[in-house]
Amino acid sequence: MKRVFSGIQPTGNIHIGNYLGALKQFVELQDNSDCIYCIVDLHSITVPQDPKKLRESIRNVAALYLAVGVDPKKSTVFVQSDVPGHSELSWILTCCSYTGELSRMTQFKQKSKEKESAPTGLFMYPVLMAADILLYDTQIVPVGDDQKQHIELTRDLAVRINGKYGKDTLVVPEGKYMKSGARIMALDEPTNKMSKSAENEFSRISLLDPPNKIKKAIMRATTDSDGEVRFDVENKPGISNLLSIYSVFSGISIEQLEKKYQGSGYGDFKKDLVEVVVDALAPIQQKYNDVMESGELDKILKEGAEKAGAIAQKTLRRVKENFGLGL
Ligand code: AMP
Ligand code: TRP
Repeated sequence: MKRVFSGIQPTGNIHIGNYLGALKQFVELQDNSDCIYCIVDLHSITVPQDPKKLRESIRNVAALYLAVGVDPKKSTVFVQSDVPGHSELSWILTCCSYTGELSRMTQFKQKSKEKESAPTGLFMYPVLMAADILLYDTQIVPVGDDQKQHIELTRDLAVRINGKYGKDTLVVPEGKYMKSGARIMALDEPTNKMSKSAENEFSRISLLDPPNKIKKAIMRATTDSDGEVRFDVENKPGISNLLSIYSVFSGISIEQLEKKYQGSGYGDFKKDLVEVVVDALAPIQQKYNDVMESGELDKILKEGAEKAGAIAQKTLRRVKENFGLGL
């Protein structure tokens, strides 16, 4: 069975972009792979967090993993900071990375834009992500396509280290991206990706949003003025984004949807989309409430950390041995 690893930051508002780009793959992969899913809390402190809110958010994201269908009997679910190996391998990888390649990371450039000085954690973030992945001899990393550059860096580091310290030191992983859904755009500005932190709450649909909020966000979503339901990312980014969302939630192809709404304008299309999204999220929200009430979460995360920790120890022992570290 192939080893799969992925993670999501516990910083509020998990949205349909996270779901369609990443979480949906988590669930699909767990039947025929050995999956490890992490709540990457060490990544979220690269920008300041309120400690109380962070702790709450960690549990919320864990509950959402289970709510969308990650099954702790099949997959390992745990919190990153519960396994010290992530930080340890991160330092070893830091010593094999270059400031040049880290300065070229788009996410770092965006987040540090127009600032004279950026937090060091933000700069090191991709190395920690590489450590997360390499610590578990991961072969497949399901993510949204905004993470492609970080996956490439992870591969570069693994190949570089194998070249110097022995070809069996690290497993070189591959990214896995959805054919559609890999990049869901913001509803208000469909040329930006949907994000957890954008100020306008109607720019995204969060998995726990109530129906009236979903309706408002979709009915307000930016479209163009020609009134034709047609997929054309370049000229009609708003409608194309809504078509993608409709298609992945309903299982109806984009071509079929174009046909269905030929000549009917955006109003009807949007109204139906509201229904599709509300219906798709209802069972997730129900399960989320069940998980939160069940009181099982802490036990699942504790067992997950123990399982993950044992795998991490094995990898670290091998890496340290090859580097000549320790006794
Ligand atoms: P983050 O919100 O940065 O913690 O991302 C968690 C996962 O969701 C990663 O695999 C991202 O690539 C994915 N993701 C984030 N935003 C989007 C989006 N707008 N469309 C598709 N996937 C996304
Ligand atoms: N950097 C990822 C994001 O912002 C989250 C992440 C951290 C991750 N470590 C990872 C994703 C390891 C996959 C594998 O979305």
